[in-house]
Amino acid sequence: MTERVIALVDAGRRKPIPAALAPAAGAARDTLGRPLRDLRISVTDRCNFRCTYCMPREVFGKDYDFLAHDQLLSFEEIARLAKIFAAQGIEKIRLTGGEPLLRRNIERLIEMLAAITLPDGRPIELTLTTNGSLLARKARALRDAGLARVTVSLDALDDATFMAMNDADFPVAKVLEGIDAAAAAGLAPVKVNMVVKRGVNEHSILPMARHFRRGGQVLRFIEFMDVGATNGWCMDDVIPSGEIVRMIGAEMPLDPVDPNYIGEVAERWRYRDGSGEIGVISSVTQAFCRSCTRARISTEGMLYTCLFATSGYDFRALLREGKSDEQIRAAIGAVWSARDDRYSEIRTAATARERKIEMSYIGG
Ligand code: GTP
Ligand code: 5AD
Ligand code: SF4
Ligand code: SF4
Repeated sequence: MTERVIALVDAGRRKPIPAALAPAAGAARDTLGRPLRDLRISVTDRCNFRCTYCMPREVFGKDYDFLAHDQLLSFEEIARLAKIFAAQGIEKIRLTGGEPLLRRNIERLIEMLAAITLPDGRPIELTLTTNGSLLARKARALRDAGLARVTVSLDALDDATFMAMNDADFPVAKVLEGIDAAAAAGLAPVKVNMVVKRGVNEHSILPMARHFRRGGQVLRFIEFMDVGATNGWCMDDVIPSGEIVRMIGAEMPLDPVDPNYIGEVAERWRYRDGSGEIGVISSVTQAFCRSCTRARISTEGMLYTCLFATSGYDFRALLREGKSDEQIRAAIGAVWSARDDRYSEIRTAATARERKIEMSYIGG
């Protein structure tokens, strides 16, 4: 039997917030000179899928202890934190989960976040990553609430492979419906994330590329990563992105494209015939830590400065202890100034076995 790993963060996994003096608003740089630009907020640790690489059913089974409602940050707490982060230099917010569309009244949170403006008056860019299962029903309301675009996860185009990966008998057609509804509602450009595992869905690479090239979505291939401590990761299961680009390029010639912005995670490739683009996300074979500008807030308000962190900073405590905006801003600056994370650059077989936080708790 697999050992049951509790994804909740116990006291031993909280780090004290450094006492360093915070730099001026918007100027926070970490110890490797990286600014803070991108905030990912997980709004629920629950999901209606059990993807084998993220929430394996043996671990996230019937009696798994998900967070109780009072442990979650409230919408008011999330919006307050987001506003303080925006004053600190964040330009983009991505809502994640678990499955973010499972959080009740998520549209109301989106309305609150969409109203945030940056110090220069521009609106913040608000996006969301979803498994697509509820998207057909919710796309229009999400758009009306102020969401700019969505990224949908889909790992195969045939039900047998997709269902083996989502382990929830969820059919491909429903996700495709969700993608169409998102595009129709103006949540564009819709991006599609496909996690690639050797021997599991590598045969889906070309069918997925052909399908979304016609459909006009941006398909991104993600190398299977050793996030969390439960997905049994091993290097043999990783298909290097270079292999994927060669495979697709042999049938549909590709040219490299410059990044959309500094620190973009996906490396972009364009079909030579002008029929769209794909991306590859190579966290394992080509680490991109050097330009990593992302901070993550877990469902219960812990701040993590790396996707592969083993501990985080308890910002829910600051919120609930009645700290002022200025004190919280200073805490963000202090944490960011002390940051030295570069996990993907220093990954080894031993670090892959560390008790890292789960992706379903911190979000992608
Ligand atoms: P946009 O450029 O705004 O579309 O977003 P993005 O590419 O940053 O977003 P997305 O969340 O879709 O990222 C795609 C995937 O890349 C995630 O689901 C993760 O699997 C992976 N990823 C994102 N950020 C990081 C990171 O900081 N470190 C690592 N190792 N992987 C990441
Ligand atoms: N490796 C790579 N990507 C992963 N995701 C979840 N777990 C992993 C993993 N182990 C991706 C999902 C989704 C996003 C939230 O993160 O496919 O696109
Ligand atoms: Fe759910 Fe996304 Fe994790 Fe799959 S990858 S189990 S859809 S949170
Ligand atoms: Fe950023 Fe950590 Fe990912 Fe490196 S491993 S890119 S530091 S989140």
